[in-house]
Amino acid sequence: MSRIEKILEAAINARKTARGQTRQAEGIPENIDGPKFQPAAVPLIDPGAVDKKIVSIREPNSLVAEQYRRLRARIKSASGDPVKSILVTSSVMGEGKTVTAVNLAVTIANEIDNTVLLVDTDLRNPMVHNYLGINPQFGLSDYLKGDVNLPDVLIKTGIGQLVVLPAGNIPENPSELLSSQKMKALASELKNRYDDRFIIYDSSPLLVTADSIPLARHMDGVLFVVKASANLQKSSGRAIALLKGCRVLGAVFNNVPEHLAEQAYPYPYGNSYGYGKKDGSGGSDRQGRQGAEK
Ligand SMILES: Nc1ncnc2c1ncn2[C@@H]1O[C@H](COP(=O)(O)OP(=O)(O)OP(=O)(O)O)[C@@H](O)[C@H]1O
Ligand SMILES: [Mg+2]
Repeated sequence: MSRIEKILEAAINARKTARGQTRQAEGIPENIDGPKFQPAAVPLIDPGAVDKKIVSIREPNSLVAEQYRRLRARIKSASGDPVKSILVTSSVMGEGKTVTAVNLAVTIANEIDNTVLLVDTDLRNPMVHNYLGINPQFGLSDYLKGDVNLPDVLIKTGIGQLVVLPAGNIPENPSELLSSQKMKALASELKNRYDDRFIIYDSSPLLVTADSIPLARHMDGVLFVVKASANLQKSSGRAIALLKGCRVLGAVFNNVPEHLAEQAYPYPYGNSYGYGKKDGSGGSDRQGRQGAEK
């Protein structure tokens, strides 16, 4: 039996034992709203149904998964105020935000002392649930619209201490929901309620929608994902300019082409990262193959 299978079995047993106990006892916030909605039971995540790009689950001993552990270490040792809430974003579509957010969340959640809440704020093209192989009925958009209560849409995954808040049903007004007072209060509540909790927010691209900019202002830090191709570097500069005043932690260079990745480490795709200045002016100041760092 693999390590993940053992962890899952232990989690399933723990869940059975905990039936009847409060969700509070499971580490899920109880009283953001009173319970009035019973969700369909969501099974724990099946590692076999998880997308292969989620190497932190599918191939935890791979060199790619190791890059996410290095990213975790860099975030946890970032200078300045501790980073507990992180928005993962990018300039345009398809740069690897969701793959990065999910892998990072799992990697942090696998550390013994950390609880992680992974929030899908991409209300137009939500993909977190797809990468994790789950099919939730409701999520963030439904909570923001007032249709459901928060505890009812949080999914305890059984993977480390990872809880997922999926995006929910695609709304007609995603920008308005994400810039609402209710979203602001939620971000603040989630951050302040638990000291040991990391909150990772997946988001939509900065140059395509206005959805992520107000969110970025409520975060301890922003992680900027850049697909490693030359023609995207200009748009990255424009997107980072939109984050003026936010704390840009750095850039993750994702999906490095094979011929470049091989110079850094011997596998077909990879991630590397650089760290910028606190005011966001130098978020991608260490472009290149940081994966080769010793
Ligand atoms: N490191 C990687 N190596 C190989 N393929 C990758 C990598 N990261 C992402 N991809 C692939 O690139 C595509 C886009 O990835 P992802 O969904 O994470 O991007 P995104 O920035 O979240 O996109 P969107 O803006 O549409 O939300 C997917 O097909 C994904 O599987
Ligand atoms: Mg995405």
